[in-house]
Formats: sequence, C-alpha cells, structure tokens
Amino acid sequence: MARKQLPPIVDDDGFPDDLHEALNDGKPKIISAFGRAGSGKSVAMRRLYQSWPGDKLCLDVNGNAEPGADAERIARADLSKRWPIKRDDATGQPRPRNLHYRADPGSATYVDDLDRAVGMALFPQDHPVLLWAGEVGELMPNAVAQPNMRRVLQQNRHHKITALFDGPRPVGVHPLVLAQSRFVFVYNVPNPSDRRRIADSIGYDPAAFDAVHNECQRLNGQELKRPDGSPHWYLLWHQLAHQLFIMAPLPVEPEQKTTAA
Ligand SMILES: Nc1ncnc2c1ncn2[C@@H]1O[C@H](COP(=O)(O)OP(=O)(O)OP(=O)(O)O)[C@@H](O)[C@H]1O
Ligand SMILES: [Mg+2]
Repeated sequence: MARKQLPPIVDDDGFPDDLHEALNDGKPKIISAFGRAGSGKSVAMRRLYQSWPGDKLCLDVNGNAEPGADAERIARADLSKRWPIKRDDATGQPRPRNLHYRADPGSATYVDDLDRAVGMALFPQDHPVLLWAGEVGELMPNAVAQPNMRRVLQQNRHHKITALFDGPRPVGVHPLVLAQSRFVFVYNVPNPSDRRRIADSIGYDPAAFDAVHNECQRLNGQELKRPDGSPHWYLLWHQLAHQLFIMAPLPVEPEQKTTAA
C-alpha cells in the first residue's frame, strides 16, 4: 500500500545535524546526490566525507574531488584486494587512512580499475570504510554495475561500507543507487525523466515531486536576484521518515568557495 504523502518541510537552518549523526551512527548506508553541473553535489558530499573520522576512499574521476589535506594519493599499482590497514608506529593501533584514487579515464582498464578500487573498500568484510564516488555513473556504464559495485549496492550492510554517490542524472545509473539510498540530495534536475525516476524510486507522487522541485528552483531564482545570492537550495529525501525537505544552501567552508568540482 502506498504510504501517506507528507507535505514537504522547509528547513533553512543550514546543514542538518542529524545527517552527520546518521552518517556516523555505525550503521552502513548509502547517501546519494543528483543535479546538474555546478549545483552543489560535491560541496555536500565533500562535507560528509570530511566529517568521517575513520578509513575512507575517494574515487576521483575528474580530479576535482578535493578529499582533504590528509588524503594519500594512491596509484593503480596500489590497488589491492583488501583495505591496506596501516598501524600507528607508536601504539600499534590501526591508523585511519584517507585514500585518494584518481582513475585515468583514458586507460583501457578504466572501468575495471575503478571497480578494483571499490573492492579495496569491501574487504575485510567487517572493516568499516566510507567510499565516495563522485560521478557514480562512471562506475556503472549503461547502468550496469561492475562486480564489486554490485556488492556495494546489494550488500553494503554486510560489508560495513558506507557510500556517498553523486552524479548529474539518475537515469543511467543503476536503479539500486536510489532505491538503497537512506538520504537523497536533489539539486536542480531539469530533465523530467530524471525527476520521474527519483519520484518512482523513492515512492513519491511524481506530480507532487515536480511541484516541490519547482518550489526549490523558485527559491534559487530568488537567490539569483540578490548580489550575494547562493542558488544552491536543494531537496533532501529522508528515506526512513519518508519525508522530503526543502533545504537552504549549505554554508560553504571558505576553502571550498572557489572550487568547482
Ligand atoms: N551552498 C553553497 N553555497 C555557495 N556556493 C556553493 C554552494 N554549493 C556549491 N557552491 C559553489 O558552486 C560551485 C559548484 O559546486 P559543486 O562543485 O558542489 O557542484 P557539483 O554539483 O558537484 O558540479 P559537477 O557536476 O560539475 O561536479 C562551487 O564553486 C561551489 O563553491
Ligand atoms: Mg561535483
């Protein structure tokens, strides 16, 4: 039976604290973001990524991810079948690592390389890792998820893997990305078939979803008229609450202001 459709809630309080809490509650989950170029996906995902204190892996296909000052660049030759745990020299305790892999889109093994990198985050199975794949479509050409990615989508909870996925268009990525997302950030999605895909996946009436999306874009239009406007309002879908929020632009850290990723 269809769930009751709750009216959207406008939240202009900045980044929702409960999102940080949800990210770090020890329960693996998928969070995704969609919207046209420059709408703010990377800003949001980067912020979540940087709030994660443990092991994490950033798959960066365009070189603009900026995963943080503590990130360690790894090359194709460093890709292994499991997470390369490092121990602190003084205490012998595992040391959290922020690994940054820049795949080469020109390489004949590009898609395979990306999937091998995903595999590193999957094993050992009881080892928590945060994976950020901006441009998630690159990891699933024609919506076909590669083997490790398929595991993430179908069994992330059995692998302690938390994933941040973003991309411009949901049509063209594997349907499980949306279906499994605990939170979905929706920026400006101008193509009706993309909005329809989101609405169908989250179980929201498509006409009602369009209306909420329009309202969000109206707020962005107002921002554009202001000299210091920030046209980065977005919708946030909270899967467990089955609730859509209209969210004010995130406050951007000063070092992110000039970045277009
Ligand atoms: N909430 C915000 N407030 C102010 N500026 C923002 C905000 N969100 C994003 N921006 C700015 O907009 C630009 C693009 O943002 P971002 O890189 O997150 O877009 P994107 O959706 O990831 O685009 P792409 O699809 O090209 O990767 C950046 O210069 C960023 O600083
Ligand atoms: Mg981006």
